[in-house]
Order: sequence, then structure tokens, then C-alpha cells
Amino acid sequence: MSVQIGNIDLGEFPLLLAPMEDVSDPPFRYVCKQNGADMMYTEFISSEGLIRDAAKSRQKLDIFEYERPIGIQIFGSDIDHMREATEIATLAKPDLMDINYGCPVKQVACRGAGASLLQDIDKMVAMTSAVVKATHLPVTVKTRLGWDDNTKNVYEVAERLQDVGIQALTIHGRTRSQMYKGEADWRLIRDIRKNPRIKIPIFGNGDIDSPEKAAAWRMEYEVDGMMIGRAAIGYPWIFREIKHYFNTGEFLAPPTIAERVDVCRAHLDKSVQWKGPRTGIFEMRRHYSNYFKGVDHFKEFRMKLVSVQTVEEVHELLDEVVDHYSAIMA
Ligand SMILES: Cc1cc2nc3c(=O)[nH]c(=O)nc-3n(C[C@H](O)[C@H](O)[C@H](O)COP(=O)(O)O)c2cc1C
Repeated sequence: MSVQIGNIDLGEFPLLLAPMEDVSDPPFRYVCKQNGADMMYTEFISSEGLIRDAAKSRQKLDIFEYERPIGIQIFGSDIDHMREATEIATLAKPDLMDINYGCPVKQVACRGAGASLLQDIDKMVAMTSAVVKATHLPVTVKTRLGWDDNTKNVYEVAERLQDVGIQALTIHGRTRSQMYKGEADWRLIRDIRKNPRIKIPIFGNGDIDSPEKAAAWRMEYEVDGMMIGRAAIGYPWIFREIKHYFNTGEFLAPPTIAERVDVCRAHLDKSVQWKGPRTGIFEMRRHYSNYFKGVDHFKEFRMKLVSVQTVEEVHELLDEVVDHYSAIMA
């Protein structure tokens, strides 16, 4: 059965790219989309930043046609500011709006935003309701199991947020106090999915990093789809690998060197188009080692890739990478 959010049809068992600060920008989203991500989100955007018209926040509103369906994720601690930020973000014409009630980091959660709202469900409900009313777009929410081991309240959160109009919920199977430690626990996510009152799609998130795990957890936890974060960093092929495994029960071969290079070129080109050559080339530098992880003796190429100054030089080096490794593997 196809998963539906408003009038967005996501197909059967969609794979979502997680919102990731400093990672899921438009160039990265492009390569994830090319490799099978069914829906994506922007990095989280501060509602205060949007209202102040801060350049960093405003730039995160940039979305492109090829990315659809895409959601803009916002966070904040003040209900009026969240309402205003929703109105501003809606003007950027995303397909949906998403609220972050999951961010555990101090600068966010200790300022009354992100996961901190898990400690004040009434406020969370009021905030969500204000956001839903401030936009014609579907609103989704991303959160965690609860604040800590003693307050795993996401079951109640799911019901109450559905009641005020959210159209999908993604749950990361950790509490705030776990940060990113331990293993994600999806049992409560399954309970919510099985709650007869819950009609909206429930997406599981946390620790999906291989086709086998995706298939096993799909069966075990019965979610409507999955959101993938860290495993996609430097490895956007995770989406197509999981889909292939779902469809055939077989593993897709890992990306060839030529495919790795193609993704680098696409990422670089989008980066340069979006931010201009200087910043585009600079920001691309942190990605090379990820895209070639596990490739023998890549270090020398990486050193060169992070020191050249023009797009042409990067492309020439990438040509050399293909030539070098096809000669070795031939
Ligand atoms: C570098 C990084 C940045 C993140 N930024 C955000 C964010 O902006 N908004 C959000 O809701 N979650 C954010 N997260 C959490 C992820 O969306 C996701 O919930 C988490 O990484 C667990 O999924 P995974 O195990 O597939 O990575 C971030 C995670 C990482 C690693």
C-alpha cells in the first residue's frame, strides 16, 4: 500500500533521508535523490534565525525542483516565533513542513527547543497546533522516544500530535539523554504503529545501516517507512541497495570506482552551482574521504583533491582516479 502524506504519494515503504545539520544541504540531497531517497528534509532551521532573517537560516530555505517531495524542518522554543517561521518557510514552497522535537544538543534542547519539548507535552501540542494552522502544507514531526528512560512518552505524544493535525511522525528510537549512544530501540515505535487510534504514517529512525537490517527491522517493527541518516553520509547508495534487496532479496554490488567518481562530480557541480566555485570547492573537500572509504591507497588522491583550487583541476584528478583504479582492477 502506498504511503500518503496529504496529497503526496510516497509509494510503498518509502526511504527518507534524515535532516542533518551541516550535511543534508542541496548538493548532498541531490546525490541521495539520485540514488533512491523517496523524501528528504532540509537541515533544521532556527525559527529565531528565520525571523531575524539571518543569512545562515535563509540559505537553508533553498530548495530545488528535483528534490521534491521535500520538507523544511524548523525548531524553536517560542510558539509565536514558530508560527511566524512557518509562514516564512511556507513561502519557500516546500512540499511539507516538519517540526524538530528530537534535537538533543545542549544549545537547542537546553534552550527549550528540540527534544526539550518532550518534557512539556502541553506546550508541544500547542506549538504543533499553531504550526499546523499557520500553513496550508502538511506538517510532519520528528522526535525521540522521550526525554530519558523514565519518561518515554512518545506513545502519548503520537496520539496528541495526530489529534492536532500532523500528517506523519518519525521517531528516532533513542531518548534525549541517550544522545547517540547505545542501540536504537524500535519496540515502542512498533507499539505506536499498532495503536488502532493512530492513522498517520509512522516512520522508524535510528541505526539503519545495511539492507539486511532494513529488511529485518521492516518485518519486526512494521513501520510505514524508514528514515536514514548517518549511513547515507558518504554512502548515498544505501537507498538503492536497500530497495534492491527489498525487491529481489539479493545484494546489489557496491559502487564501482566510476560510480563513486560520478557521485563526486555531481556533488561538486551542485555545490559550485549553489555556492559559487570558491565555497563550492571548499565545502566539497570534506566529502572525498567518505565517498572513497575503503578504497585502497586513496590517501594520495585525497591530499591532491583537497588542495587544488579550480573545478577543472578537481575533474582532472577525478579522471586520474578512474584511470588509476581501472588499470589496477583490469
Ligand atoms: C551530523 C548530524 C546532524 C543532525 N542534524 C539533525 C537535524 O538538523 N534535525 C534532526 O531532526 N535530526 C538531526 N540529526 C539526527 C538524525 O536526523 C537522525 O535522527 C539520527 O542520526 C539517527 O538516525 P541514523 O542512525 O540513521 O543516523 C542529526 C544527526 C547527525 C549525525
